Amino acid sequence: MVEEKKQVTGYLLFSMATAVIGSLQFGYNTGVINAPEQKLRAFFNSTWMERYGRPIEPGICTVVWSFSVAIFSVGGMVGSFSVGVFANRFGRKLSMILVNILAVIGGLLMGFSTLCSSYEMVIAGRLVIGLFCGLFTGLTPMYIGEVSPTPLRGAFGTLHQLGVVVGILVAQIFGLESLLGSAELWPLLLAVTVVPAVVQCTLLPFCPESPRFLLINLNKEEEARKALVRLRGTEDVTKDMKEMKEESAKMAMEKKVTIAELFRIPAYRQPLLIAVMLHLSQQLSGINAVFYYSTGIFESAGVTQPIYATIGAGAVNTIFTVVSLFLVERAGRRTLHLIGLAGMAVSALLMTIALLLKGYSSLSYLSIGAVFLFVAMFEMGPGPIPWFIVAELFSQGPRPAAMAVAGCCNWTANFLVGASFPKLEELCGPYVFIIFLILLIFFFIFTFIKVPETKGKTFEEIAREFGVPLPTTATSLEAPPTSSGGTLPKSPIKEKV
Ligand code: GLC
Repeated sequence: MVEEKKQVTGYLLFSMATAVIGSLQFGYNTGVINAPEQKLRAFFNSTWMERYGRPIEPGICTVVWSFSVAIFSVGGMVGSFSVGVFANRFGRKLSMILVNILAVIGGLLMGFSTLCSSYEMVIAGRLVIGLFCGLFTGLTPMYIGEVSPTPLRGAFGTLHQLGVVVGILVAQIFGLESLLGSAELWPLLLAVTVVPAVVQCTLLPFCPESPRFLLINLNKEEEARKALVRLRGTEDVTKDMKEMKEESAKMAMEKKVTIAELFRIPAYRQPLLIAVMLHLSQQLSGINAVFYYSTGIFESAGVTQPIYATIGAGAVNTIFTVVSLFLVERAGRRTLHLIGLAGMAVSALLMTIALLLKGYSSLSYLSIGAVFLFVAMFEMGPGPIPWFIVAELFSQGPRPAAMAVAGCCNWTANFLVGASFPKLEELCGPYVFIIFLILLIFFFIFTFIKVPETKGKTFEEIAREFGVPLPTTATSLEAPPTSSGGTLPKSPIKEKV
């Protein structure tokens, strides 16, 4: 224990904090579009007037608006899918620096959209920013995982989701009319993302390249050792070096699995189905209907100061992410995911009641309460768990491919919700949350029947729960390739508990 504490140096914390700026950026750009909805709609209208001499039709305005919101996730899909290519070609550190160029381009496009009277620039900017965020949803967790001391890798891994929720909260606060959410300043609100990008680029040169990348990918043993000495604050890094070399040997023996193989090999089917379904449950729970559109939702529920309710949702989101950090290693992933989904279903029902009874002013508080509960329950399980459970369900060989597939499914579902919610709201009126209620019940049943508890289990034990026949001899294509005499490599979760 004492030894573990010694491994946490100021330099390690500085390096991780620098990487988490990427998670903050993802959160900021997720939450930033919420508050200025009416200002953006007014801008679309004035541009339309300028060009065509008549006001924009409400239907078209809604399409342009939902497009500006949802195109972010299209960028995210492509970005999350390309993360392996970037990280392996340029290294973790240089990738983070290069990817920030996208934040600068995207921020400037959005920032100058009003000056150029072009709503297309908002849409293009959101696409580029999405690409940037998709890349960082892979780069930050990867870098943090690789610089963390092994016994603390799990705890530090959750810093990514914490960065995301803080980013959302900051965006909501900056979105206040009195700050940057006004009719004149909203382009600046969207362009602010350039600032953390510049800050991160200034700090990154002082951070080390991931020692694991230096040793395993580049075979630069001395450089890897030097980076470790600085990160750990001690000359004696032999234990870390030995661990990395073992990992490197394991990787060399465990064949890299392509995405096509991931789908073909029967042994991966069950864990892949679970990984994808957990990511889908995260997004199809409707969480981003809240984070993209809650100001509008509160307005339709009759809340007079909707922006404060939105900020409240961001605060609840942050608090419950911290709560779940402490619970996740005690209560278990499966239990927390089930509790989260069930709680969200109850909140969706309450939300429907609040929207149906909006004539009664006292009931506007019900909508606030329902959204707060919805968000709190999300962070209990469906928020943080899918991001790290994929790594637990897969060993070193298939892990990158599985993460790319799961990440891409996450962003695709994110896009579907973002793009369709305003239209669904128009079509279903107060009943719109019933759609999420049905989906939540479906994912609850799926999780209950199919998802095993992974906390404290080795990869062998998890695989056995899937009923996968474990190979006892040499590597076989019908089962995950093995590293040492037929025993599957241990999952990192074994070390965490
Ligand atoms: C998760 C989701 C993201 C969502 C956020 C809310 O990180 O992936 O889409 O906006 O949680 O806290």
